[in-house]
Amino acid sequence: MSNQNAQTISIIVSGAAGRMGRGVCRAALDDDRFTLVAAACRPGSTRRGRRAVEEHPRSPTLQNPDEIGVFADVVIDFSTDPGARAAVEIARRARAALLVGTTALTGPTLDAIRDLARDHAVMIAPNTSPGVALMARLAAIAASQLGENYDCSLVEAHHAAKQDAPSGTAIRLAQAVREHAKLPDNAVLSIRGGDVVGEHTIRFAGPGEYIQISHTATSRDLFVHGALRAAAWLRGREAGIWTIEDSLNLSAR
Ligand SMILES: NC(=O)c1ccc[n+]([C@@H]2O[C@H](COP(=O)([O-])OP(=O)(O)OC[C@H]3O[C@@H](n4cnc5c(N)ncnc54)[C@H](OP(=O)(O)O)[C@@H]3O)[C@@H](O)[C@H]2O)c1
Repeated sequence: MSNQNAQTISIIVSGAAGRMGRGVCRAALDDDRFTLVAAACRPGSTRRGRRAVEEHPRSPTLQNPDEIGVFADVVIDFSTDPGARAAVEIARRARAALLVGTTALTGPTLDAIRDLARDHAVMIAPNTSPGVALMARLAAIAASQLGENYDCSLVEAHHAAKQDAPSGTAIRLAQAVREHAKLPDNAVLSIRGGDVVGEHTIRFAGPGEYIQISHTATSRDLFVHGALRAAAWLRGREAGIWTIEDSLNLSAR
């Protein structure tokens, strides 16, 4: 892997004109530990978000994914399913690790990501918040302790523009619970509206009590800084699929 400056972590951002992508670009451009070597947006994209990145004095011009041919340490993707697939190819050409923050990935895209992970470090991170990673561990512990005697439910709320439901985070949390207890599909509820950044609550209801584990994101910056911290951890890691929990020493494996 190559790096323009050995002191910094060189990154490429995929989905750079989007809400998350432009946040990652701007945070990296303002952080001496990172060098933004390239940024990709959807071919033909004319979004205002493009300008929001390119007006930064140190920003590279946003490019189509297939135009990007520089080396980097880590590709950070916050886009869409086709964007994530394009990010796999960017990472291959860049000989870079890949951090996928995009949610609602299709089977073929997951296959392409797993194929990349044979030779590259890859992190699939449907939520880059350390608090949510801790919540997943707590939920797994609660599910294993309370087991079958408690009814488990999961409610998530997000802003009106969010495309996927349930959220990638809800799917990740449900997976953590289901390793130890039942969580029926009809007990996973999604609410969309307003500008809610992200709320997730898991409830275990039993005889005479219930216990809730909740997480509320109050700013998208949480995910931006979580992504940059995860990218720093991912740089130079051995090939394979990693999780945010691994990067925070919260993994049960
Ligand atoms: N992991 C986390 O912690 C976390 C946190 C928040 C959001 N997310 C996820 O991150 C993703 C992006 O969220 P967002 O809120 O930033 O959405 P957004 O504002 O809609 O941004 C998505 C961006 O991806 C671009 N795009 C689409 N196809 C592309 C392609 N082929 N190549 C490159 N870029 C492409 C879109 O361009 P156009 O608009 O021009 O189509 C848009 O700029 C979603 O899946 C969301 O669920 C994850």
